[in-house]
Amino acid sequence: MTETSLNRFRQRHAEYLEQVLPAIPEGSNDSLSAAMRYAVLSGGKRLRPLLVYASGHALGIQAEQLDRAALAVELIHCYSLIHDDLPAMDDDDLRRGQATVHKAFNEATAVLAGDALQTMAFDLLIQQTAVSDTNKIKALQILTKAALDMVKGQALDIAYEGLQPEQEQLEDMLQLKTGALISASTLIATAYAESLTESKCLALADYAEAIGLAFQIRDDVLDVTGDSEVMGKPQGSDAELNKATWPARFGIEQAHVRTAQLYERAIIALEHFDESADLLRQLAELMVVRDL
Ligand code: IPE
Ligand code: IPE
Ligand code: MG
Ligand code: MG
Ligand code: MG
Repeated sequence: MTETSLNRFRQRHAEYLEQVLPAIPEGSNDSLSAAMRYAVLSGGKRLRPLLVYASGHALGIQAEQLDRAALAVELIHCYSLIHDDLPAMDDDDLRRGQATVHKAFNEATAVLAGDALQTMAFDLLIQQTAVSDTNKIKALQILTKAALDMVKGQALDIAYEGLQPEQEQLEDMLQLKTGALISASTLIATAYAESLTESKCLALADYAEAIGLAFQIRDDVLDVTGDSEVMGKPQGSDAELNKATWPARFGIEQAHVRTAQLYERAIIALEHFDESADLLRQLAELMVVRDL
């Protein structure tokens, strides 16, 4: 039942994504728009938009109110991936099973496509109708903070190359670069809730913090043990750049232990919710037990 619902939300989101991206008329040489479409409509697990809908579902919010927030988080995510792959950053050639944007187009177009997707994300929230100004500003504040934290995390990710940060420092970096947007994807639904108990809000925040960190630790493990064909991105990229990652620092076995611990914490946080949070429970599992 829950899988059906996630698929329904995935389908709904796919239709909106297709609509909001700039259309490319026949014969056009608009490479910026082409690169934006290429980056976004190239697959991807769409976990962040699914988190938006799943959290909204747990809070009793209609999907119609969440569509733009779901789009916005995915556009920020896609922008972050384009820039993350650039030669100046991780210098990767493969993403979602195809050439990275700077390889398929060129570096300038990749930088600009990322910039445009980021701006579009905020515009989508600003242009939202049928939402009070107060709720709109709350949603914008949540997304803005996450987008900024993601950039701070990416800067730390680069600064830590070749270093051995302590666990706390390492996890703070992972929380910023990846956890922040995952938390925003979960918490943005709270901006549209008319009434919300503090305990539910704190429980959602705790859930998101735990799965966000677990998700990036799993990503780092897959970079070591995964199959590039399955993941659609290069295996071994982190080791090549001497990245400070959880498995590099403490070993694969301990990384598994840590992700299991975090998964457990996420599930316990959801005890504040009834079966309305089953989609969130399912997403927690998808994010931690995955091969791509
Ligand atoms: C990859 O995120 C980048 C990280 C933050 C680890 P995803 O694994 O969600 O990438 P897509 O969207 O499915 O391609
Ligand atoms: C990416 O972390 C984090 C962001 C894009 C903000 P990674 O560099 O590990 O992501 P992948 O492995 O390239 O997807
Ligand atoms: Mg990176
Ligand atoms: Mg990368
Ligand atoms: Mg990675």
